[in-house]
Amino acid sequence: MDIELLKTSFRNIFQVEPVIVKSPGRINIIGEHTDYNDGFVMPAAINKGIYVAVSKREDNEMHLYSESYQQLHICGIERIEKSDKAWANYILGVADQMKNRGYKFTGFNLYLDGNVPLGAGLSSSAALECATAFALNYINNIGISKMDLALISQKAEHVFAGVNCGIMDQFASVFGKKDQAVMLDCRSMKYVYIPLKLDGYKLVLLNTNVKHSLSDSAYNTRRSQCEQGVKWIKEHFPKISSLRDVSLEMLEKFVKPKDSEVFKKCAYVVDENERVIKAVDQLGNGDLVALGELMFATHGGLSKDYEVSCKELDFLVDFVKDFDGVLGARMMGGGFGGCTLNIIRNERIDVLIEQIKAAYQREFNLQLDAYVVETDNGSELIG
Ligand code: GLA
Repeated sequence: MDIELLKTSFRNIFQVEPVIVKSPGRINIIGEHTDYNDGFVMPAAINKGIYVAVSKREDNEMHLYSESYQQLHICGIERIEKSDKAWANYILGVADQMKNRGYKFTGFNLYLDGNVPLGAGLSSSAALECATAFALNYINNIGISKMDLALISQKAEHVFAGVNCGIMDQFASVFGKKDQAVMLDCRSMKYVYIPLKLDGYKLVLLNTNVKHSLSDSAYNTRRSQCEQGVKWIKEHFPKISSLRDVSLEMLEKFVKPKDSEVFKKCAYVVDENERVIKAVDQLGNGDLVALGELMFATHGGLSKDYEVSCKELDFLVDFVKDFDGVLGARMMGGGFGGCTLNIIRNERIDVLIEQIKAAYQREFNLQLDAYVVETDNGSELIG
């Protein structure tokens, strides 16, 4: 990302000096669809992100410009409403949340650019929300805590993008740290950084370049299925408020007889939480082989039980399963498209990418993109 170019583009439109904020996209090592169930996740921020150039205005207007869409959006901060420009809604949603919480801020200019692929399940939207929240907090000197920046951004996604997401993406975008994954307990919001010791291996993303249209509605349906399971258990254990405290036995007894689909979904979440706990130890001990096996197990659960995968993602995971040098692979994020995350031995990366690209093209007549990613810091001022 060329920061000087970003500044110049900003000056050309707005005729003033900006500050630059970067917020990263994220990967998730393990812990998928657990965040909204009060469970555990283990994301890391990556070296692909959203960059915003921002300055205060004298008036109460928001002047927003997207480099990718080459579009300008202008509106006031008195009445913040959803726009028909999807990209602008992430920014407007954050401004709206800040206003609802009583934070005072002036009008602003914002120029948006980035290098995180859109719609690839790398949380470009969370990165944009977090970059906006960070920048508005900074230029207005409000003093909002990092955790609240993440929570404001999450709420913006709920209200202005209509996805009832958990906290993982926004948390990772704000709290990420270079060379570390971060294990978050989504109930207590306590977290620990875990050094990512990948000696001889790298994290590789394989982008299906598809995003099936049911992804948002299916996400919200999964959420309600999990809530339904908890309700049925609550009838017998009134203190239980999330799948976090539920055992497989309870599910067998009180949920399976009522609805076998709801049972399958809830059982996946219970298993996945256990996998995250195991993964903490494995990563700590540098046992990447065991971690890789857990990743394959997560993929199986997401595909067969939670049913949020798709044929393109399954194809990519199947292809690498017995490929020499691949320790683990799985779909990542909400599902129905986007990327798989793979742990691959350095000298096998090029040959794998070459072969899998050709196979993917043959199978689906689609291009596959591959990114070797590094971890990076969370939201920060960089200029
Ligand atoms: C999306 C959501 C996250 C999380 C993942 C699935 O990325 O935004 O909150 O639920 O899906 O783990």
